[in-house]
Amino acid sequence: MAPLTAWYREAARDLPWRRGEFQDEFGAWGTLVSEFMLQQTPVARVIPHLEAWLSRWPTPRALAEATPAEVVQQWANLGYPRRALWLHRAAIEITDRHGGVVPRDVEPLLLLSGIGDYTARAVAVFAYGDRHPVVDTNTRRVLARAVLGQAQPGSPSRRDLDLMDSLLPTDDAESAVFNAAAMELGATVCTSRSPRCEICPLIDDCAWVAAGRPDTGDTRRRQAAFEGSDRQARGAVLRVLRAAAPDPVLLQGVLPDWPDPLQRDRAIDSLIADGLAEADGETLSLPR
Ligand code: ADE
Repeated sequence: MAPLTAWYREAARDLPWRRGEFQDEFGAWGTLVSEFMLQQTPVARVIPHLEAWLSRWPTPRALAEATPAEVVQQWANLGYPRRALWLHRAAIEITDRHGGVVPRDVEPLLLLSGIGDYTARAVAVFAYGDRHPVVDTNTRRVLARAVLGQAQPGSPSRRDLDLMDSLLPTDDAESAVFNAAAMELGATVCTSRSPRCEICPLIDDCAWVAAGRPDTGDTRRRQAAFEGSDRQARGAVLRVLRAAAPDPVLLQGVLPDWPDPLQRDRAIDSLIADGLAEADGETLSLPR
């Protein structure tokens, strides 16, 4: 895996959180916010929202003082909006438990709302420079191919972290670059459907290439189609609420022409259950 970091230094995309001047003001809070947004949203869509978010709430304490309505409003169309509420809750927890400073250790990071194995270690590594395995879905694919000789990774497990840990350079700074490099390779070269092995720095080390790129099956769950889904209906309801905010809207006037009225009602009910909307008599609004 040695050529990986050399490749990264040459080929990494120019992303805001990798630029020296931005990184200084970015800090651990910027890393945490960016990793929250990047959990399920592509880089290009995240960048403008990240910059707007951090100008509005440059510290955990600033976000902790916002209302849920402001937070859901600012999340805009990033998708999976429960992440906005979790990030808000995490900011309150950081303020209450850690004096407003994003913790450095993985254990307290894992106890924050909305933070799992990936995000906790991404913060410890990319913000604080410590040595931990950071494994996202791109890294899992690189490991599956290069090390295990499989076309696609299996379900996420502790073994991914252990395998990545065994490959990390011993030096903290080098290991941080290695973590970023594996993610970047998976995002740009070792992609799920059309890997560009001819330009891959690991082509001579890759177990999957050595085996002739066999189709070893794919047990991953497909992401459900968005078109026609309840998720699409939830997004459409939230758009109506955001456009009207801070005013509530009449329930009757929410998507009156939606093709499937039962689906619209289900979307409204589930948004209320998730704390993303509030009903009051005949009206609906963002959460107060
Ligand atoms: N650098 C650090 N975390 C990243 C991510 N989630 N996506 C792309 N580049 C990153």
